[in-house]
Amino acid sequence: MLVLGIETTCDETAAAVVERRDDGSGRILSNVIHSQLNEHAPFGGVVPEIAARAHVELLDDIIGRAMTEANIGFSSLQGIAAAAGPGLIGGVIVGLTTAKAIALVHRLPLLAVNHLEAHALTPRLVAPLAFPYLLFLASGGHTQLLAVQDVGRYIRLGTTVDDAIGEAFDKIAKLLGLPYPGGPHVEKAAAAGDADRFPLPRPMLGRADANFSLSGLKTAVRQVADRHTPLTSDVVNDLCAGFQAAVIDSTVDRVKASLKLFAHQLGVAPTALVAAGGVAANAAIRAALDGVAADAGIPLLLPPAPLCTDNGAMIAWAGAERLALGLTDVLATAPRARWRLDEAATVPAQFANTRANF
Ligand code: KG4
Ligand code: ZN
Repeated sequence: MLVLGIETTCDETAAAVVERRDDGSGRILSNVIHSQLNEHAPFGGVVPEIAARAHVELLDDIIGRAMTEANIGFSSLQGIAAAAGPGLIGGVIVGLTTAKAIALVHRLPLLAVNHLEAHALTPRLVAPLAFPYLLFLASGGHTQLLAVQDVGRYIRLGTTVDDAIGEAFDKIAKLLGLPYPGGPHVEKAAAAGDADRFPLPRPMLGRADANFSLSGLKTAVRQVADRHTPLTSDVVNDLCAGFQAAVIDSTVDRVKASLKLFAHQLGVAPTALVAAGGVAANAAIRAALDGVAADAGIPLLLPPAPLCTDNGAMIAWAGAERLALGLTDVLATAPRARWRLDEAATVPAQFANTRANF
């Protein structure tokens, strides 16, 4: 089963062709991605209108390249998948509308994929992985702990009540004069800093829920920075180290809380802890997650970096997993800026899946 996947929810314009075999294993035939980093870097963050216009200009070519690299024609495909949300609505409209047009012209089923579901299912593209597992998804836009029970069945165990972790890294970087996106720069500075020099809060520590909060920590960093202007590189390094250590303590505590909630709500332990999203590229955070997984007696799985961050293959794969179950979508499916993954269990009528498109 061959599926074309289109991703346009944020600042990556991406398309890929993925195969799903009957035994449930997957193969990537092409995975083409254009990151709009340069377009947004001068603004220190993603500008929605610039992103939407860039998707319009880039997407046709990216899809063409994905098909050429896969060395197939549209007639070889069994489905067209696009991320239908959540994300920046202008970009989502571009990707979903393009997918609908291809589906209509080539009389193929449409798969309107939840971007978060795509992150959640991607580990199964790489290696055999049985349900249910625990997903820690941390990117610039999302911070979630999810019980992945099956395709289309998720329980959100925790989320952030304010900033996403990647967003907090980016804001701290901006405030300390480091380039965008901030994560890798903060990590590098932290490696040269003293995490104990500035005492910083550990948000949400010890709470029974598995939620995150980053804004108080960010404010605390800003207050220290304000007291030390003009900033020396020592202060920047020490603040980055302190911030990262606080994020790690908080993350470890929140993931542990989610493991308890998982066992309580599902009655079993997860088969694995899976981490995805750009923040999972952070070596110190990965080491901390490794410790949590080892304590819980489960493996930590990290899809390869290009599949952890936004890409087309994850959308194609989620589409293929849904197609294998007959979960196709009508052409009237609406793009969605917000779309909670655990809503899948109670889909509003207008988003209901149907087996027949035509
Ligand atoms: O998943 P991703 O590539 O894109 C979306 O947000 O959709 O994640 C990007 C985010 C950015 O906020 C970036 O600063 C963060 O992931 N990030 C990191 C690291 N590398 C990227 N955060 C912490 N440490 C890193 N090494
Ligand atoms: Zn994402």
